[in-house]
Amino acid sequence: MRILLLGSGGREHALAWKMAQSSILEALFIAPGNAGTMQHGTNVDLSVNDFKGIKKFVLENDIDTVVVGPEDPLVNGIADFFEADEAISKVAVIGPNKEAAQLEGSKDFAKKFMKRHNIPTAKYGTFTKDTLKEGYAFLEAMKAPYVLKADGLAAGKGVLILDTLKEAKSELKNMLSDAKFGDASSRVVIEQFLDGVELSCFVITDGDGYKKLPEAKDYKRIGEGDTGLNTGGMGAVSPVPFANPTFLDKIENQIIIPTIKGLKAEGISYKGFIFFGLINVKNEPYVIEYNCRMGDPETEVVIPRLKSDILDLFEGVATTTLSERDIRFDERSAAAVMMVSGGYPGSYKKGKQIYGLNTISDSIVFHAGTKPDGPVVLTSGGRVMAVTSYGKDLETALKRSYGSVDKIEFKDSAFRKDIGLDVMKKNSKK
Ligand code: AMP
Ligand code: GLY
Repeated sequence: MRILLLGSGGREHALAWKMAQSSILEALFIAPGNAGTMQHGTNVDLSVNDFKGIKKFVLENDIDTVVVGPEDPLVNGIADFFEADEAISKVAVIGPNKEAAQLEGSKDFAKKFMKRHNIPTAKYGTFTKDTLKEGYAFLEAMKAPYVLKADGLAAGKGVLILDTLKEAKSELKNMLSDAKFGDASSRVVIEQFLDGVELSCFVITDGDGYKKLPEAKDYKRIGEGDTGLNTGGMGAVSPVPFANPTFLDKIENQIIIPTIKGLKAEGISYKGFIFFGLINVKNEPYVIEYNCRMGDPETEVVIPRLKSDILDLFEGVATTTLSERDIRFDERSAAAVMMVSGGYPGSYKKGKQIYGLNTISDSIVFHAGTKPDGPVVLTSGGRVMAVTSYGKDLETALKRSYGSVDKIEFKDSAFRKDIGLDVMKKNSKK
């Protein structure tokens, strides 16, 4: 296969790493990629939303499959763009079309979809600036804390959780009347707050059948003990100890199957990954959100646990023969610790030289915000790299990752020291 992978984060490095192991890979290009992806293929200087540039590259390089990492090009309709253009309509796109990507692109669409198919999720109401007063009344009838969500994509910042009714009303007005998140908040979903522990589940689907991938838990806050600002994710573990077989069965029967069936019943063709952001409330799973792509940093622990050839699965998606493909997993645990630039998720400096990468033997370093500079690697983002390790259990995997983190240096680096601790403690109490 001749692949173009879109994206530049740790997720894309993990996907590139996995695809490079496939016996059916002929050529791999990554646009725009990072200093890690270039170990497995050729980086191409193209933006993920430059559809015309992508088309030109695909034709010139005889690409047969485009694998889409991030949500933006999917929500912007890259799959539809390919399908509509005769010159490239035979090229497979691994990622849903614009309509299907609304599961992530519009919170209101996702909530309505879940309601239609009886998929457990928080109670909600959707409001616009014309129904601001009704929005206030809805808030008044709820209990604190209050959850407000911009309907559209807001770079992961569109969810606000507020402790007082006063703040909630004021933020609702900011979002609806003062376009706090631009167009993304022209509609706002107000949700019941669900109290529980989150986890992420993933499937790959060809629109007909689906295959489950291992579940994972990510750590979104910058500070230890889940404190401080939200980030893109500071680490991840897989498996998730509290997700025992009974709980995983509930997820499959109450959430995954109704989602796949619901899409089919509504004639929405979905080809690609579905990410279920879930919360465990008293041993019952609820959907917090859908994403139309893999998670980051979850991919950096989920994909290393996939034993099967990922390109075989992608071929199954492209030709709607996924159910005939084999999927196997590594029984070992995997843990990723994210090293970030000091100051992140606030302002931080880029361009710091990274030392010690060549000394790592116990872990896989998945680059996120890095760029090559001749023979050296420089930081180029907030999340710099995910240090992933295997272990017979999470404890072993984490110990290895932290050992490797200690050997990697760049100025003002930071990381969370408590990845996985909460779920391991919960497990040992059982
Ligand atoms: P989202 O972008 O929808 O994933 O929301 C971001 C984060 O806000 C989630 O990962 C949760 O931690 C939190 N969150 C979202 N919705 C709810 C809810 N209904 N109840 C509690 N926490 C929530
Ligand atoms: N780790 C959460 C996400 O990728 O959205």
